[in-house]
Amino acid sequence: MTKEHFLGRTLEAYDPPVRGDRITGERYYSPEWAKAEWKHVFTKIWHIGGLLADLEEPGDWITHNIGRDSVFMIRQDDGSIRAFFNACVHRGNRLLWSDVGSSERITCSYHGWQYGKDGTLVFAQDAEDFPNGNPCGKAHLTEIACDTWGPFVWFNMNLTAQPLHEWLAPLPEQLAGYRMETMTKVLDVRCIVPCNWKIIRDNFNESYHLPTLHPELASFIDDEYTDTSFEMYPSGHNRMVQKGSHPSKRLDYPDAMQPLVEDELRNWGLDPADFEGRVTEARPAIQQAKRRLGPERGCHHFETMTDSQLTDYYHYTLWPNTTITMSPDGFQILRSEPHPTDPEKCIFDHWYLMPPMKDRTEVVTPVGMRPFAHAERETVIYGEATLGYVADQDMSVAVGQQQGLHSMGYKGGIISGQEKRIQRFHELLNDACGIHGEIE
Ligand code: FES
Ligand SMILES: [Fe+2]
Repeated sequence: MTKEHFLGRTLEAYDPPVRGDRITGERYYSPEWAKAEWKHVFTKIWHIGGLLADLEEPGDWITHNIGRDSVFMIRQDDGSIRAFFNACVHRGNRLLWSDVGSSERITCSYHGWQYGKDGTLVFAQDAEDFPNGNPCGKAHLTEIACDTWGPFVWFNMNLTAQPLHEWLAPLPEQLAGYRMETMTKVLDVRCIVPCNWKIIRDNFNESYHLPTLHPELASFIDDEYTDTSFEMYPSGHNRMVQKGSHPSKRLDYPDAMQPLVEDELRNWGLDPADFEGRVTEARPAIQQAKRRLGPERGCHHFETMTDSQLTDYYHYTLWPNTTITMSPDGFQILRSEPHPTDPEKCIFDHWYLMPPMKDRTEVVTPVGMRPFAHAERETVIYGEATLGYVADQDMSVAVGQQQGLHSMGYKGGIISGQEKRIQRFHELLNDACGIHGEIE
């Protein structure tokens, strides 16, 4: 198949050259690297702060802790949303401690200073006792950049950052048909994983591991790399597209019917017997059936999606640390953030968002995902509960790789063509951090 199957774009247009920098092991454990990443990357990029659905009324707020810092986003009286560092300007006490809440004023637990929704100090105990005069109305929480896209509110600690919609390009244009803004969160799992955040990034930046680590997926996702579209954008974001409802060409009998494709055919009113021995023809038939039957089954999101989006997996990695995996019935956020103090650990968040359930008769839980019943955050202790078997498979090697990268026997990687997104990721990181080669 040619690359033009996906949105009519050619691979070459989005295939920037790489230099072949060595991917050094120390970047996965050295505190110097962690410090440089914080200073030059994490304080400069847009981050998902949380869901707009949690900010309906004036005074509603959400917090997000990242690295050693914390921020909060709060709905204003005029309907806008503003974001601030979550630290009292009196003597630095952290102000808000829960994930979500609502209040007219933000009150510090130490000496009782109170801030309005716009971050202005409105009450200070013994306000007359300050040598430079009453700080009320003059002192403000430190504001940061804030904007919205999709169902999310985003923040950026760099006030002079590129506007969010420019930074996100080309995602807003490419993903418009999914109407992500209508989707709600049904899964929210957080886990502290004993590996550097980039190990999870590297994993999501290649599909080379699918046949070994996720062999189950081959029965309904075509993981053959020559049949996969890889694109890298000027922004540093990238995309991989794989055909769904289509068994892998790597299989011994790639034309044989597979149980998951068989289920999908039945679900959409098609007879699997008609596709026996030619299962690769099932995908377009399923697309047409979804197009025809989707709306009457409450799958209104299908109406604005392309045929390919009705079956395929559009897997985006936003530079540097957030993966958005679009599937026909929802999308996943898979984010790894640095641990506040230990470069050999990270915070892994896994969310799943789905279109409105109203009138829907067809609800498909993605294969291998942790079962979900509600959208409250569940914190999973690594190794004590499942993240869903696909994420468990990924994390199992992440932890092993963290160990192996300390070895003097690891020399800096031998990277295949289909892993080029990893190579580019590290070269962008080297450039951003100003580190090239080993730290002495
Ligand atoms: S540190 Fe917040 S009121 Fe003193
Ligand atoms: Fe994986």
